[in-house]
Amino acid sequence: MTTAPTRFAPRGPLTGTISVPGDKSISHRALMLSALAIGESRIEGLLEGEDVLATAAAMRAMGADIERGGDGAWTVHGVGVGGLMQPAGALDMGNSGTSTRLLMGLVASHAITCTFTGDASLSHRPMGRVIDPLRLMGADISASPGGTLPAMVRGIVPAIPIEYRLPVASAQVKSAVLLAGLNTPGITRVIEPVATRDHSERMLKGFGADISVERDTDGARVISITGEADLQPQDIAVPGDPSSAAFFIVAALIVPGSDVTLTGIGMNPTRAGLIGVLQGMGGAIEMSNEREVGGEPVADLHVRHSALTGIDVPPDIAPSMIDEFPALFVAAAFAHGRTRTSGLDELRVKESDRLAVMAAGLAEIGARAEEAADGLVIDGTGGDMLPGSCHPVASALDHRIAMSFAVAGLHCRDGIEVDDMHPVQTSFPGFEAMLRRAGAGA
Ligand code: S3P
Repeated sequence: MTTAPTRFAPRGPLTGTISVPGDKSISHRALMLSALAIGESRIEGLLEGEDVLATAAAMRAMGADIERGGDGAWTVHGVGVGGLMQPAGALDMGNSGTSTRLLMGLVASHAITCTFTGDASLSHRPMGRVIDPLRLMGADISASPGGTLPAMVRGIVPAIPIEYRLPVASAQVKSAVLLAGLNTPGITRVIEPVATRDHSERMLKGFGADISVERDTDGARVISITGEADLQPQDIAVPGDPSSAAFFIVAALIVPGSDVTLTGIGMNPTRAGLIGVLQGMGGAIEMSNEREVGGEPVADLHVRHSALTGIDVPPDIAPSMIDEFPALFVAAAFAHGRTRTSGLDELRVKESDRLAVMAAGLAEIGARAEEAADGLVIDGTGGDMLPGSCHPVASALDHRIAMSFAVAGLHCRDGIEVDDMHPVQTSFPGFEAMLRRAGAGA
């Protein structure tokens, strides 16, 4: 594990063609659903980051046969819905909130008992949001104080189907309930007043589950899944992760002379909010070669250095770019004028408190950022370089904070030292090499 600070400094424009690794959310779901199908599934483009590997290890511990082939594709022989087996030891979720919350859902409706543990960051994150609905379904769950890990989930068969209205806009909570519903007799229903990423719905349908999505009279999405499902094995191609692409998009926009093409990026509308916001700030981002891969919209993105202007980001689009705010804050720090964000309380319970940690890091590198209760207000440089910092910027065990400051360093006079790049392994192995290859680096 590298914990030595890593330096990022200006080194000219980013150019060329970049393919980022597979989508993290889709990779988790591909492994989980393949592990619940009977027969062999094949996954191409799986993200081989630590978070996804934690999901693979957990599914193996519960009986699935999961292997990486010499060609880089993964094969999975599943156990069937209802067939998860008692793991021998605790399930170590590392840094991965998605693994934890979705797997808690799966375990809740199986006759097994699992203990979930995680690293220092994950052990502070709230699990009550999944524990509450899963208890309503009959699972017996004990968590650490404050509803955190370590937690033990004693699943129940048969579980009780529920109708659950999400109190917080969270795809992880939605997915936990839907996955629990897979092995629950009858119809399990989730109502989401604010749409969140819909990869679970798309992929469940692809695997042959009986799932429907409707709108109620208030416009809320109502997702219904019929339980005791039979899932059919699939061949899945995982699109490039738009959340990883975000760092290269912002880097190309802020570093003068940059001109890059990102290929095969997931453009699911429930994930693509950042693109519209950056275009609204004047960012030259053009989409081409639009197509469908594995039931998901995908496109190539051509991004060129641009003079950005500050913007008010409407809070209702936050769920469609929830992981991209750290990158947006960096773009805003180099824009002309003021960028205001609000409605971002959820950022306080991600891998770190992303509002506090980004505000502190931006101040450290000489940017003007005000932290409000639910967002940041940033006054940009108008395109000029920021001073940067020779003191390491704290990334707080948060991969996206680390990558955001790495990108910011490319347009800071003294560069930036990021205290610890290791967390980047959770979602984007190869990030540093790719950034340096694109023309940037220390
Ligand atoms: C994810 C959903 C989001 C996102 C996370 C991955 C998923 O979390 O922040 O990185 O794969 O379902 P919430 O749904 O809890 O906001």
